[in-house]
Amino acid sequence: MTNQEKSAEIVRKNIHVFRCPLCHSPMKVNALKSIICLNNHTFDFAKWGYINMMIRHSNGHYEKKLFEARQKIITGGELYPLLHHKISGIIKMHSDVSNNQPVMLDLGCGEGSHLQKILDKCNDAITGIGLDISKEGIILAAKKYKNSIWIVGDLVNTPFADQSGHIILNILSPANYMEFKRILAPAGIVVKVVPNANYLKELQDVLFMNNNKKNYDNDDTVSLFKQHFELVEYSKLSYSKELNQTELLNLVQMSPLAWNASKEKIDTFMNQSSSNITVDIDILVGVNRHPKGGLK
Ligand SMILES: C[S@@+](CC[C@H](N)C(=O)[O-])C[C@H]1O[C@@H](n2cnc3c(N)ncnc32)[C@H](O)[C@@H]1O
Ligand SMILES: [Zn+2]
Repeated sequence: MTNQEKSAEIVRKNIHVFRCPLCHSPMKVNALKSIICLNNHTFDFAKWGYINMMIRHSNGHYEKKLFEARQKIITGGELYPLLHHKISGIIKMHSDVSNNQPVMLDLGCGEGSHLQKILDKCNDAITGIGLDISKEGIILAAKKYKNSIWIVGDLVNTPFADQSGHIILNILSPANYMEFKRILAPAGIVVKVVPNANYLKELQDVLFMNNNKKNYDNDDTVSLFKQHFELVEYSKLSYSKELNQTELLNLVQMSPLAWNASKEKIDTFMNQSSSNITVDIDILVGVNRHPKGGLK
């Protein structure tokens, strides 16, 4: 079976999750080659098995190199396993995955490793679907993780049906809560990860010194989330891990923080043989305000 056929088969089993991003009608898989709606809008499975369902031009500025570095840090190092452990615990506690075909949507999934690591820890027959506006990210995800569905798409206008997602992940990415509410299943949960003031602070310290360093807080993000969802858990996760020089290089390459920094500052950071790096994040867990099905 080719990558396209294998992905098409997984999509076929989960076709009820999809709706056409152009006309919003239901879709079906056509000859294991494409996905097509009632009005014949057609999206082909690409060579690596992902589907490009973007309907507007986007110039996402995240490059392949950034996603490759993210993939190395997220899969290889010690920096994120605690986050994956925490989120899989939240899913087990707050969501009812005992129904037939639970679906976990990662909106703004990047190169897919967070979604895959969390799925691995859930030990359930959850179907994972990652969506990102960046084709570079989705290609890396589709090449590496062949049991999930990968979509190039816009989280503002997703190709997903009403109430089709049992778990929505939104990790360090932009959100569109109107769209999230539309696609969230009645008893579903939204898990949003937002950076806190000390997230990667060692990198911030070197890059910004005291000059441009913003006094960051995420109060607005939290308050907007609470306007749309009932907050059932608000966890703070803060820890440090020691990274070696190769990992520090990947950290610089994976982080938009370094985009505007001078070469001199980046070199200072990279000349360290190792450094403690802090992960400081908030995890917001929300449910529909008036769930039809109720929570477990
Ligand atoms: C900081 S990265 C986080 C990626 C991933 N969740 C992670 O933590 O590695 C933000 C991601 O949001 C994606 N993104 C930005 N706007 C988007 C949109 N409108 N629809 C889908 N993805 C979007 C970017 O392409 C990028 O991959
Ligand atoms: Zn259509």
